[in-house]
Amino acid sequence: MTSLLSKENTDNLISAPMAGFTNSPLRKMFAENGAYRIFSEMVHVREILNLNLWEIPIFLENYNYTIQLFGSIDDDFIEAISKILDFADNFDINCGCPVKKVIKAKGGAFWLKDIDKLIKKVDQISRKFKGKVSIKIRVGFDKPELLDLISNLNDTEVEYITIHMRTATMLFKGEPLYELYEQVSHFPKPMIVNGNITSPMIAKKLFEKYKPSGLMIGRAAIENPAIFKEISFYLKEGRLCTENKLNKIDFLISYFENMLDYVNSYPFFNLIPEPLKEKALSKYDNSKNEADRKKFLKKTIVESRKIAFNIIKGYPEAYLIKQNILSLENLEDVKNFIQQSKIESHKSKVRK
Ligand SMILES: Cc1cc2nc3c(=O)[nH]c(=O)nc-3n(C[C@H](O)[C@H](O)[C@H](O)COP(=O)(O)O)c2cc1C
Repeated sequence: MTSLLSKENTDNLISAPMAGFTNSPLRKMFAENGAYRIFSEMVHVREILNLNLWEIPIFLENYNYTIQLFGSIDDDFIEAISKILDFADNFDINCGCPVKKVIKAKGGAFWLKDIDKLIKKVDQISRKFKGKVSIKIRVGFDKPELLDLISNLNDTEVEYITIHMRTATMLFKGEPLYELYEQVSHFPKPMIVNGNITSPMIAKKLFEKYKPSGLMIGRAAIENPAIFKEISFYLKEGRLCTENKLNKIDFLISYFENMLDYVNSYPFFNLIPEPLKEKALSKYDNSKNEADRKKFLKKTIVESRKIAFNIIKGYPEAYLIKQNILSLENLEDVKNFIQQSKIESHKSKVRK
């Protein structure tokens, strides 16, 4: 088993890359709730190449962390990974995104349209950064070609392969084609199964039936960040965990507390490794600091409102809470929201 994954199959519960969602505060919550490896959202290769050195620590995290890259087959993945090599232990190549804009720019699942080309490129990248590269695919572009894909990927140096068990044209809907895993389960590369894993029972069924090296969970983890812990518990104990269950309000509090920590450490200079620090700081234009900070703050608050909406989905009083979330404009509002939510959480526990 690759060092990027745990030795125990069942520990390999991985949180999925989700553009616009898996920002640092949410990732931290997944790490705190039992995900073994946490993916960033996809970042364009050219965005990385254009980053200033002082901006790179925005990627730094202190858990098993995968930065996912996307771009066209002609983009320079090797230069981009070289630039951020010290900032994560795993770099994933996105060959599964079916979003129109991404396909039009020949990124994501577009690569699945020409498997020979894909394999050549992935072979080149994974040989250059042995032990650090993984790939996320679909079972095919518009028809299943999983056997062809996996048998070829097995000859590259990728460390593990995540398979979203749908074709790209199925987008995010429809029953995942889990059964296709049987065609490839004999290959030695570790493989992670992804798609609609929404409960400990589904996770157990997949582990028992197909014996993948792990499972990746996306949307269900936003609505219930404890799903990783709950799956581990169920696999070990054979029953659902009911003790110390946090409710959605607690998750909201935890999310916004992480967000405050995150924005307060901007511009992350203290995270720059020593050898790079001097060089990075010499490039930083101090006169732009306040404007940069405001822009960063605004983006993070807008994104956080959307994430909070998803966390609170399904909560009995979600409608009222959503009104409060919508009105969050600045850090003072966020702090007040946290205070108010703590009172609510306490009241609901006393009522029980
Ligand atoms: C809002 C959203 C954003 C996503 N962004 C990415 C991404 O950046 N990279 C990627 O490989 N997949 C992305 N995905 C796909 C997920 O990683 C995952 O493969 C898919 O949602 C199926 O898993 P799930 O059913 O557990 O959500 C995204 C999915 C959603 C819903």
